Amino acid sequence: MTKSNESLQQANTRILVVDDDPGILASLSCMLSDSGYTVLPYTNGADALKAIPLEAPDLILLDIFMPEMDGYEVCKCVKQNNEIKDIPVIFMSGMNAVEDKIRGFKVGGVDYITKPFHPEEVQARITTHVNLSTFRNKLEYQKLVEKKIREVAEAQQATIFALAKLAEQRDGDTGGHLERVRDYCKLLAQQLANGSPYADHISDEFIECIQHASPLHDIGKVAISDAILQKKGKLTQEEFEIMQTHSIIGAENMQSVYNKYPENPFIGMGIEIALYHHERWDGKGYPDGLIGRNIPLSARIMAVADCYDALRSDRCYRKGLEHEKVKEMLLEEEGTHFDPEIIKAFLAVEDLFWHIMDTNEYT
Ligand SMILES: [Fe+2]
Repeated sequence: MTKSNESLQQANTRILVVDDDPGILASLSCMLSDSGYTVLPYTNGADALKAIPLEAPDLILLDIFMPEMDGYEVCKCVKQNNEIKDIPVIFMSGMNAVEDKIRGFKVGGVDYITKPFHPEEVQARITTHVNLSTFRNKLEYQKLVEKKIREVAEAQQATIFALAKLAEQRDGDTGGHLERVRDYCKLLAQQLANGSPYADHISDEFIECIQHASPLHDIGKVAISDAILQKKGKLTQEEFEIMQTHSIIGAENMQSVYNKYPENPFIGMGIEIALYHHERWDGKGYPDGLIGRNIPLSARIMAVADCYDALRSDRCYRKGLEHEKVKEMLLEEEGTHFDPEIIKAFLAVEDLFWHIMDTNEYT
């Protein structure tokens, strides 16, 4: 810290001093004022306790041996008051027995200076404790800010999920699909982070993002007509082509949000997933016919999660298939529809997929 910064900090530092000896109080006040501190002097504990919440000092220098209320008692009262308990208290006393000092620390003092004191020692200890206190306050403030950011992010994610749910409800018989694919994507990403060739690409942020972005995969279906979306029979070629546009429509809508918040990795992944979750490893998917690792990893994970859930779920035209049957079908499409590494990850966690589906937790 530069000399000018140091004197600026001292001028902003308010020290409340309590001592029943007017001579000592005057000399301490004088010394601290000369060093640039703002001094708030008090001759007894009761008055000091009334003043502390109003004056909000950065530090309290407290004599111990005083009539009516001694320093230990004053310190105890300070520490019992939530509003002022974090203000550091330094005892100053002519009593220099170890047990006096221990008692001072036990009631909440941060330091103990023995009288007669040396001005430079007092100043050095004040600086140390004010800096520590400032640092602790900054950390606490930072924690509070982080908590608020987390709360806002959670509220946003809940809102986005609610919108995705609303869009899904038009699709009729897919109850619990979004919740389950969210869990499947998380499981697959965690497994791939654990020793697969993709481990370096999967951070904690990736896992967090894929969980929250995966429910947006079919958001573009809001633009598909009920006649196509809820058609009981097989879609015609033309209807199928219209249905396929849901990937582009979903991505385009999110892109307009992403243009405003280009730093947001969650929206970025939402676009990848919406646009590419119907691509195939062999390049025969849509909308762009991307091949292999040209398909974003998030969308390749989504493809396995989405197909597993779709095949296991009841549809108006068929019952949901058993786990073993679906597993067989996924394995048949390893290297054609699906990325082999993701199928490998699926096999490692298939019991958990089975459990999520069969507990019906989300339906
Ligand atoms: Fe889709």
